[in-house]
Amino acid sequence: MDPRFLVTGAGGQLGSVIMRQLAAAKHAAVGLVSPTGPHPHVGPVRACDLCNADTLRDAARDARPTHILHVAAMTNVQSCARAPDRAHVTNVDATRSIVELADVVGGRLIFTSTDLVFDGRTGGYAEDSTPRPLSVYGQTKHKAEAIVLANPRAAVVRLPLMYGIPAVDRPTTFRAQLQSISRRTPIRLFHDEFRSPIWLEDAAAAVIALALSDYVGRIHAAGPQRLSRLEMGRLAAAALGVGDDAIEPVSQTDVPFDEPRPRDVSLRSDRFEARWGRPAGRPMRDALPQIVVQFRDPASASGRPELD
Ligand SMILES: NC(=O)c1ccc[n+]([C@@H]2O[C@H](COP(=O)([O-])OP(=O)(O)OC[C@H]3O[C@@H](n4cnc5c(N)ncnc54)[C@H](OP(=O)(O)O)[C@@H]3O)[C@@H](O)[C@H]2O)c1
Repeated sequence: MDPRFLVTGAGGQLGSVIMRQLAAAKHAAVGLVSPTGPHPHVGPVRACDLCNADTLRDAARDARPTHILHVAAMTNVQSCARAPDRAHVTNVDATRSIVELADVVGGRLIFTSTDLVFDGRTGGYAEDSTPRPLSVYGQTKHKAEAIVLANPRAAVVRLPLMYGIPAVDRPTTFRAQLQSISRRTPIRLFHDEFRSPIWLEDAAAAVIALALSDYVGRIHAAGPQRLSRLEMGRLAAAALGVGDDAIEPVSQTDVPFDEPRPRDVSLRSDRFEARWGRPAGRPMRDALPQIVVQFRDPASASGRPELD
């Protein structure tokens, strides 16, 4: 049977790129977008509040998916800290509804989780490292992981910080940083906060490859490098062909936050590499030339058909 995908969070950074890649591969796919959010540039969508189990059930019944990619979440760490109940309803309770749906339709379920399930004390986390989330966001994603893994056809893919240009008109931190760096507007970036960043395009491809495989359980899909935010900014400046003198290195300890920030949540992706014979993501330096093109000409990132 040909796969039919249902993608939640289709109007988000990652969901929009997944929608574009599924369309390019000629897979049947329906995206669910939030009633108030933007629509991805490519693909049919339906508005649905995932916290409303009835509308979610209707949307899923109509789509008859063989593969559910549950990408939607309340992703802003500070918003989750300030509204923990809403974070729980969105990230945990809605995930439970999706798992119940997946049980009914009987297909594959892929859930996108995060490196922020770890406390960041050591870095280099593997799939069997012990999660100890410091934030409400990380706690809700960790709880959701356990709910998803009760489904015998499900995989939880932990993603690191993602960078790139989404296939949807929505502001992102990374795009704002590129804007500042390209205009040489002063910007402050942490020299002591480390991730294994992955390009949105590579993350989307990894999620789709995982969905089309028979892999079940936890898996990490990260970029191949451990980079600080400062190093990421400097690489971006080099790719943009501008100096990096407007980037000011700062420490995590210089900036007050509602919750402690993990210092190093770099991930190992051994299971992905063993299964697919390559890292999930390419080095940031190799992705940046295409990102700069997309940044300067957003139409090239949209995947929308060319207008005459
Ligand atoms: N961004 C990262 O660097 C990163 C890193 C690690 C893991 N992840 C994980 O990767 C996934 C995708 O992240 P992202 O950066 O693409 O997130 P995003 O851009 O914030 O997109 C999330 C999407 O979920 C939608 N959503 C939230 N609540 C909803 C609800 N009640 N009903 C329907 N839709 C709802 C949002 O709607 P609106 O359009 O209205 O906002 C948005 O379109 C998430 O599971 C996240 O936890 C992200």
